[in-house]
Amino acid sequence: MEVAVIGAGYVGLTTAACLASHENSVTCIDTDGARVAALNAGRMPIYEPGLDVVIEKAAKAGRLRFTTDVATNVRSADIVFLAVGTPSAADGGVDLSQIEAAAASIGPHLKSRAVVVIKSTVPPGTAQRVSAILQTRASADGVTVVSNPEFLREGSALKDCQHPDRIVIGSFDDHGAAMMRKLYSPFGARNVPFVMTTPANAELIKYAANAFLAMKIGFINDIADLCEKIGGDVGDVARGIGLDARIGTAFLQAGPGYGGSCFPKDTRGLAHAGKAHGAPQPLVELVIERNENRMRKIARRVLDALRIKDSESTARRQARVAIFGLAFKPETDDMRDAPSLTVISMLQKEGVTVSAHDPHAMANARALLDDVELCTCPYEAAKDADAIVLLTEWSSFRALDIGRLAGTMRGQSFFDYRNAFKPNEILAHGLDYFGVGRPAQVHAPAE
Ligand SMILES: NC(=O)c1ccc[n+]([C@@H]2O[C@H](COP(=O)([O-])OP(=O)(O)OC[C@H]3O[C@@H](n4cnc5c(N)ncnc54)[C@H](O)[C@@H]3O)[C@@H](O)[C@H]2O)c1
Repeated sequence: MEVAVIGAGYVGLTTAACLASHENSVTCIDTDGARVAALNAGRMPIYEPGLDVVIEKAAKAGRLRFTTDVATNVRSADIVFLAVGTPSAADGGVDLSQIEAAAASIGPHLKSRAVVVIKSTVPPGTAQRVSAILQTRASADGVTVVSNPEFLREGSALKDCQHPDRIVIGSFDDHGAAMMRKLYSPFGARNVPFVMTTPANAELIKYAANAFLAMKIGFINDIADLCEKIGGDVGDVARGIGLDARIGTAFLQAGPGYGGSCFPKDTRGLAHAGKAHGAPQPLVELVIERNENRMRKIARRVLDALRIKDSESTARRQARVAIFGLAFKPETDDMRDAPSLTVISMLQKEGVTVSAHDPHAMANARALLDDVELCTCPYEAAKDADAIVLLTEWSSFRALDIGRLAGTMRGQSFFDYRNAFKPNEILAHGLDYFGVGRPAQVHAPAE
């Protein structure tokens, strides 16, 4: 089929690459000329493992193109995906301006019976709104709108797109549903379940899924707090409950709170939609509040530890903290709503000097962080630090030489906010260990 994908971000690029690798002819269109130029020059504008290889192969085979030109390229498309951003609005709702602009831009160029697919995460009622925009803009007959939310995770986007748990299709009519079934027939052949429903249900499925996963994270983080008080270990508790098939082990890793481009904005979006429709979502509202508090609490814990350990000398010299990991999770360069942003800002407010290293998010970090010493390696970041705070569990951090880190630090606090290390691996090198949901292990002060 002829497919156009509007938006060349994490979702648009992955969708375009996947569809092109299933023999479709795909044009990916973005308003960001620099992004399109980079893609046409073979450079990836984002870090997503393996995506560059699939894109290069599809582009070389002539099945995938990148352009800023909507008019020429939408004209021949049987299916047009909207995969543009849907950030939070100032009131906590969803800013649909990119969706509306994209719909308005394609409207006049759509061919007869084209299917416009909303891939972006949008609140219930948006497909209706896009239909209304197209009715006033589209000159062609029989154009229909479908909601087809995306469930991929950054870091494993390709795998998730190629091997989805399910495909959700919300259509107003049989034509939209049939076209989507045809497009996704390679997945049907592999017995991936299809959820055929209305657009409003499909839109709500995406929000409800993300809110539920965010609740699991919020729940285990609260259990982690209790573990710290009773001398327990949240890892054992999470495994013990997660092996219950009704619960599942996924999203039960305690940590600094969820971040990223989806959970924070989608939980806010669901809470806002609930209020707007007179069906508040108090559970979700509480999860949002708890998560925001958690990041602040982490920074507070670091500040407290620094003062308690060495109050007099810390007061005399400026405290220094090294942050390991800035992206909201490993295997991505995405820093949108990352816990590191909140933690760093709180430390800086208290006068702490912050150094940091992330294997892939340094370019995004440079654009988002002020007055942070961005270092080329973790050892450089740890130099003269009073504390290390690990916020993202990149596998390369696991291979660090802890003795060398300890040797370069000024202080001896190691905050492992992902429980990436066993306490003894850290203690053995003279550092104090502060994990999540497990008791802190601190060396006795020298006499
Ligand atoms: N990132 C994820 O992990 C993920 C997963 C599932 C769903 N989603 C949802 O998918 C959507 C896209 O997310 P993303 O992370 O890919 O966003 P992104 O910010 O990485 O990419 C959006 C792209 O759209 C482009 N764009 C904006 N307006 C445009 C227009 N009018 N015409 C053409 N291009 C335009 C931007 O320049 C940008 O390149 C969001 O609704 C998001 O919630 C994201």
